[in-house]
Amino acid sequence: MQAINFSARFVPIPMQKKAENLFPQGLEIAKALRDKTCLGGDMTHWFDYVVKEGSEDIEAICKIKNSIQVPYDMVVVIGTGGSSLGAKAVAKSLTSSFDALCQPPSLEHPGLAFVGDIMSEECYGSLVTGLEKYFPLIINISKSGGTLEPASGFRILYDYMVGRFGSEDVNKRIITVTDAKSGSLRQLTNTFGWTSQVVPDGIGGRYSVLTPVGLLPLALAGFDIKALLSGARDYHDRFAEKISKGQSDAAIEYACYRQVFQAEKLNIELFIALDERLKDFIEWWKQLFGESEGKDGKGLFPAGAIYSRDLHSLGQYVQDGRKQLFETFLTFEHAEKKRGSYESVRITVPKIEALAGDKLDFVVGMPLSAINEQILKASQVAHFDAGVPSLNISAGELDAYHIGALIFFFEVSCAVSALLQGVNPFDQPGVEAYKINMLALLGRPDLHEHGKNLRQKITSMGMT
Ligand code: PA5
Repeated sequence: MQAINFSARFVPIPMQKKAENLFPQGLEIAKALRDKTCLGGDMTHWFDYVVKEGSEDIEAICKIKNSIQVPYDMVVVIGTGGSSLGAKAVAKSLTSSFDALCQPPSLEHPGLAFVGDIMSEECYGSLVTGLEKYFPLIINISKSGGTLEPASGFRILYDYMVGRFGSEDVNKRIITVTDAKSGSLRQLTNTFGWTSQVVPDGIGGRYSVLTPVGLLPLALAGFDIKALLSGARDYHDRFAEKISKGQSDAAIEYACYRQVFQAEKLNIELFIALDERLKDFIEWWKQLFGESEGKDGKGLFPAGAIYSRDLHSLGQYVQDGRKQLFETFLTFEHAEKKRGSYESVRITVPKIEALAGDKLDFVVGMPLSAINEQILKASQVAHFDAGVPSLNISAGELDAYHIGALIFFFEVSCAVSALLQGVNPFDQPGVEAYKINMLALLGRPDLHEHGKNLRQKITSMGMT
């Protein structure tokens, strides 16, 4: 059985034909990705990591979990970009919407908090206030070990933790995930003897969720990382088998459709989920595609929305606005399952005589999920009729297994999509420009001259 289904039924036939013509090229690129002979081939270790090193990771992570000598009921992840978006996407997708009400963090069910991606005094202020009620464990994740935002966040939390637990015991509550040898976080880890795992070589941040970068925090917070990896592994195996036989795959087809839309000047991809739990999965998807593809003046702009909520805001633009976008819908056949002790029940619209005046009796007895299905169909048809094509990606259950499969599916389709455009999917040279300016403006000594020039420029532009 396929873990993921793909359909382009809401795409005009001429565009479907163009995409199909690209499938053979997509297949060749997928083979080059598998063989590491594609552009950026030295950063494709993630492709078979799940099948080769995944089980070792699970074992090592279990050991770490069992060796933690202190009680903890809150796992605080410090990281930015690929170092935290993946774990956050998985955790939020598999956590019930009102988890804090249904199952507040406890020693059996630790909570998971993410910081290190924005410089907000309010954020750290409220975090340390909130942490007073808990026994936190800090996981500091940075491949380079020197990114300013998470490194500053770590200082703030380290200071708080030392104040609370003392400079010796605090070391039992700090775990790092960073490069095996290089970077200041590795040096600090060695100096303090913190428990640590390695970001594997040949895997960039945004392709690292199925390595210790994502697996460690998820496991410590009680998520089923075995199921997550098994979904990814099964997809990998089926994909590898298909391309060896010269057959196309949904991940390749999705990548090819994206090229056709771009050629038709539909330059924005609106990625849509119908479940609020997938909000952070969309954020992960946005980073994956945006940072992999947006280079050399190319690439689709990745945007996201949750329907039906956003049909009441962006829906107007999608229907009637400038024709520059297409939609990709991610749905689950059974989205009602949830993690933890809270059992999902079928919730239907009740019959209430006293409210008959609302004229909604025609939906009485319908489960909300059935109404959601009609919302999907209604919006897809309306948008298609207005000239907005859309793709459908669907998975069986909203569970760890299918999220794992989806992660692998999107990583492969993203790499193939970028490679089809001649773009290296695995670097991010554009991120450096802001970083150098920021460090210069903040006064890093070796960037003194650059800082001086920048300040002059900023003043001449009327900014203080
Ligand atoms: O995908 C990427 O490579 C980036 O988003 C990085 O993950 C991000 O910049 C964080 O880098 P680091 O893990 O080195 O702190």
